[in-house]
Amino acid sequence: MSTPNLKPIKRVAISTGGGDAPGLNAVIRAAVLAGMKRGWEMYGIRDGYHGLLNPEQYPEGGIVRLNRVRVRGITHLGGTIIGTSNRNHPMRYPITLPDGTHEEVDRTDEIVRAFALHGLDALITVGGDGSLEIAQVLAKKGLRVIAVPKTIDNDLDKTDLTFGFDSAVAFATEGIDRLHSTAASHGRVMVVEVMGRYAGWIALEAGIAGSADIILIPEIPYDLRKVTQKIQEREEMGRFFTIVVVAEGAKPVGGTLSVIGKEAGRAERLGGIGEKVAAEITKLTGKETRVVVLGHLLRGGTPTAFDRVIALRFGAAAVRALEQGLSNVMVSLDGQKMKFIPIEEAYGRMKSVPLDSDIIQTARDLGISFCEPD
Ligand code: F6P
Repeated sequence: MSTPNLKPIKRVAISTGGGDAPGLNAVIRAAVLAGMKRGWEMYGIRDGYHGLLNPEQYPEGGIVRLNRVRVRGITHLGGTIIGTSNRNHPMRYPITLPDGTHEEVDRTDEIVRAFALHGLDALITVGGDGSLEIAQVLAKKGLRVIAVPKTIDNDLDKTDLTFGFDSAVAFATEGIDRLHSTAASHGRVMVVEVMGRYAGWIALEAGIAGSADIILIPEIPYDLRKVTQKIQEREEMGRFFTIVVVAEGAKPVGGTLSVIGKEAGRAERLGGIGEKVAAEITKLTGKETRVVVLGHLLRGGTPTAFDRVIALRFGAAAVRALEQGLSNVMVSLDGQKMKFIPIEEAYGRMKSVPLDSDIIQTARDLGISFCEPD
């Protein structure tokens, strides 16, 4: 880590980027209150960096002052009071050319200039891997930047957990619990598709907690014959229903990801694997099969107490990092400790489910099938 910058801080901006996650408001509240306690003025950038890059689009300007009143009573609220965006990545900002085609341009210099214009001394950026990428660039261009890791997918490395994940797993588990009654009463196969991008954490944890019979995750490409085999084995035991939890990033052996689309300036969108798996199950077994896509329901609603606590801890820790003169670091949960690690150590390192982990072994011991080929 570089030498601490102990130049006094007066104004700090907070940005929330990427998909919203339960706990974002708790981070904002903790950072604002902790910053104000140190005599700093706290601001929120609207909609990721959009407010700084396009201030004319906001009646009250692209940055808003965050005071005690603005952050009152928000710890338990989903979403983010300052807005977020997972499009218009400032390093690959899409612009439409006169001939209708798109080009991606780097607008990070404009962000640095906007910080100077507003007299902002530092940035707390709350987001996933995309936000870490931007944070590093802004830090190299001279901004004092602290990153707070966020994602319901739990796929960020170098932190034991991200807030939002626990809430997503809790909701997905409740969804699976509720589907058991219909599955059992009708003797159906119920396929539940959950988010998680290229990692299977949500599917795995919710699947175990919700007593799924089959869990399909990106880390273990599945064989459809194994899916039908498991369904048939259950029938032979007199169990005429099956619960299948499928991660949006799951794919069959030798097959491809189920991608809905890819627009300029944003990540590809995944989805549709639940429908594909269900159609194949009906075709191969003749069983009545239904699909439930939990999708964005996993991102909404009130954060669990667990997520609120780590989000509040992350927000307060980010302010302490700035106070210590740090920059280009990410707040990270390591066991019970909050640590500050260089962003470059965390960026671009996806945390997949380790195949030799006890959680995978636990699922297998419970009789849950991942349907990998022999
Ligand atoms: O990264 C969070 C996440 O919810 C993923 O699980 C999902 O693939 C993606 O965001 C969905 O993004 P959008 O809100 O653009 O549909």
